[in-house]
Amino acid sequence: MAPPPPSPDALLRPGLLERVFSPDGLEGLHLDNGLCTARIFLQGAHLAEFATPGGPPWLFLSRNSAFAPGKPIRGGVPLVFPWFAENTGQPDLPLHGLARIRPWQWVSGSVEQNRPTVLRFESPATLPGQPDLPCDLAVTFTLGDSLEIAFEGRNPTDLPVEIETAFHTYFAVADVRAVSILGLEEREFADKTRSRQVRREPAAPLRIEEETDRVYTDAPGPFAIRDEAGAREFLLTAEGSCSAVVWNPWIAKASRMPDFGDDEWKQMLCLETGNLGPAALRLGPGESFRQVLRCELRPSP
Ligand code: BG6
Repeated sequence: MAPPPPSPDALLRPGLLERVFSPDGLEGLHLDNGLCTARIFLQGAHLAEFATPGGPPWLFLSRNSAFAPGKPIRGGVPLVFPWFAENTGQPDLPLHGLARIRPWQWVSGSVEQNRPTVLRFESPATLPGQPDLPCDLAVTFTLGDSLEIAFEGRNPTDLPVEIETAFHTYFAVADVRAVSILGLEEREFADKTRSRQVRREPAAPLRIEEETDRVYTDAPGPFAIRDEAGAREFLLTAEGSCSAVVWNPWIAKASRMPDFGDDEWKQMLCLETGNLGPAALRLGPGESFRQVLRCELRPSP
């Protein structure tokens, strides 16, 4: 019999990689490898914080977020799987699927000071006490002076499955009213703030001037988020995904969200990348998906 894999606990080192717990009992890891700091919770394999030395956070995280078992975290990078938004067949099921509120296990990694850290998490399709998922899931983070997240899944059943996937990334910006998004020019979208009316973006970069909730089923990237007030620009490349979502709740919706500060809409922009709606993935028995997001940050040009 093959020996069991070594416990990743051997990688823990004070000051470099430590276990952390939220007051409500969510377990996570905190990393400080000299290139970046990061905090990942095991529930949802959820990257909640990421920053490079001397700079503001890359990811928005609400001061009102829950960090409790079974509740989604408001910020960072929630994983959307196996459906996006409402489950149309069963509207009582959680929004954005089950992956972001599911227990995951930290299974392996490689950690050295001043080198990109790799951390891998898994959640099998069948877990005691949890609803079944259509795939065995794995997420691998590479955390250095840039960020890479790889989300993988395999259909372990004898039947084909249809799934939606996304990184619901909350980017931190200095003022969303002074942001341009490049990469969505002339793309068609369903406008969720206007009864899903289908519209097309003009040739210019997108600016956020009102509540914005747009689903682009065909927008594979690459993207840039120019944060003019923050004098910085996120560069995003996506692999294995062809859809995007842009979301900012603006004033009225922000005030209705219990886990979000009334004024926090100015400091965040969700640019989500995934496979949504007509671009949902169909996996035959034993088939896999792999979707990757790479983020770099540079001063504004
Ligand atoms: C976006 C949706 O992806 O997520 C929005 O398009 C939704 O409609 C937003 O409001 C936040 O969703 P949740 O479930 O995290 O509150």
